[in-house]
Amino acid sequence: MSFLTRRKSIDVMQALEAHEKLKPTLSWPHLMALGVGAIVGTGIYTLVGVAAGMAGPAVMLSFLLAGAVCVCAALAYAEMATMIPVSGSAYTYSYAVMGEGAAWVVGWSLILEYTVVCSAVAVGWSGHAAEFLRPMGVPDALLAAPQLPIAPFLHSLGVPSAWLTSFIPAAGAVHGIINLPAVVISLIVTGLLVLGTRESATVNVILVAVKIVALVVFVVIALPHFDAAHFKPFMTHGLYEVSKDPTTGALMKLGVAPAAAIIFFAFYGFDTISTAAEEAKNPARDLKIGIVGSMVACTIIYMVVAAAAVGAVPVAEFAKDSAPLVYVMNKLGNPTVAALVAGAAVVALPTVILAFLYGQSRIFFVMARDRLLPKALSKVSARTGGPVLMTVITGVIVAVMSGFATLGDLAALANAGTLAAFIAVCLAMMILRVREPNRPRVFRAPVWWLIGPAGIVGCILLFASLSTFTQIAFVIWNLAGVVLYLAYGRRKSLLAQ
Ligand code: ALA
Repeated sequence: MSFLTRRKSIDVMQALEAHEKLKPTLSWPHLMALGVGAIVGTGIYTLVGVAAGMAGPAVMLSFLLAGAVCVCAALAYAEMATMIPVSGSAYTYSYAVMGEGAAWVVGWSLILEYTVVCSAVAVGWSGHAAEFLRPMGVPDALLAAPQLPIAPFLHSLGVPSAWLTSFIPAAGAVHGIINLPAVVISLIVTGLLVLGTRESATVNVILVAVKIVALVVFVVIALPHFDAAHFKPFMTHGLYEVSKDPTTGALMKLGVAPAAAIIFFAFYGFDTISTAAEEAKNPARDLKIGIVGSMVACTIIYMVVAAAAVGAVPVAEFAKDSAPLVYVMNKLGNPTVAALVAGAAVVALPTVILAFLYGQSRIFFVMARDRLLPKALSKVSARTGGPVLMTVITGVIVAVMSGFATLGDLAALANAGTLAAFIAVCLAMMILRVREPNRPRVFRAPVWWLIGPAGIVGCILLFASLSTFTQIAFVIWNLAGVVLYLAYGRRKSLLAQ
């Protein structure tokens, strides 16, 4: 079993053969734009309504909880990314610090996270695009995924209903045949990424600006309508409760903690910057500014947007809308700004897909370079410096999932993978502090002995608040990963040669 603990040396990792390295083409404005581009997306534009429905006005506390966990993780990420500025993010750090077994589990979880995030955001994008497509005559059947009877099927097999708790109140969910706009946007973004990193990152800067401006305009319009009475009662479902969906009878986890577990989706994305570490021109400075800067900026924006939305319109009203911010603007009698917010989401949410698709192809690339996945997958294009084949394969998988799965299921599953990666990074940071206290650190996480454990405990709490169905799906995904590793990676690994 020694293969499980074999580690890659940090020094060796930095001395890769030249032809296997990705081109260093990015500097900190690109990285920060990549970060903000990845963070601000379906979470604040769509899931804010879902989370508000689960927690009531206390969704503000959910934002605070999820944000605090992410700040701890971001600090650990910044320390690790500047120390090991090699592609691969949490996977790479785990490989260096905890060994191949842990690295595989983390890499496999990251594959889940990045792929599923792309699909979830494509679905969120489609919800906003539908505002324009419906009036043009596109039928609802082509704008939403079918209702797959997974839970009833499992129940008929004898799976207890307590294991099938659903994340999202099912009432109001629209079902169709296929979510065609989501499929199309996934494929368009894949094409953009195949054209080359540099070009994509520059376009990204402009679109990030559009997205932020729309949120600022939203706040400016909503704040004058602020009514403190909308915050009472504050905690409609307490910290945590399990209740029955009145429409379907399905069990749901509600309250501040389960809402935090889903709104957590809105906060992450800064980790995609660390997957671009190898392509940073000046990793020491660029990564530090990119990761911490984008995290702090987004946390502030979210708190203000959420407070403005809850203050302007009662939570129960906008909670079930697939474009809640657009709903709030319409409700306040401002259809022009409503169209602006919907338009900004349509134009700019693809940057989130872009950032995660980029991160995903790089995770695959590094795992294949380590031979834990087939070598052919790690081939880099001479023209763009990116792994084209891997990008295309990922893009097609993302497109298929976005066409047939619902936003709630996708977001919850993506969160599970992300929480696993965050735990690994906090753990790696702490272990290395103890094992190699004198290794030079460009960025040192403050009070690491507090930040690290707090991040880990926070992630475990959020994971425990996820729907049981999501937790089981996550375990099954990782069991499949372990089988694959034992059958392939364990023998083929570069460290086994
Ligand atoms: N944080 C990203 C979003 O909200 C994943 O879309």
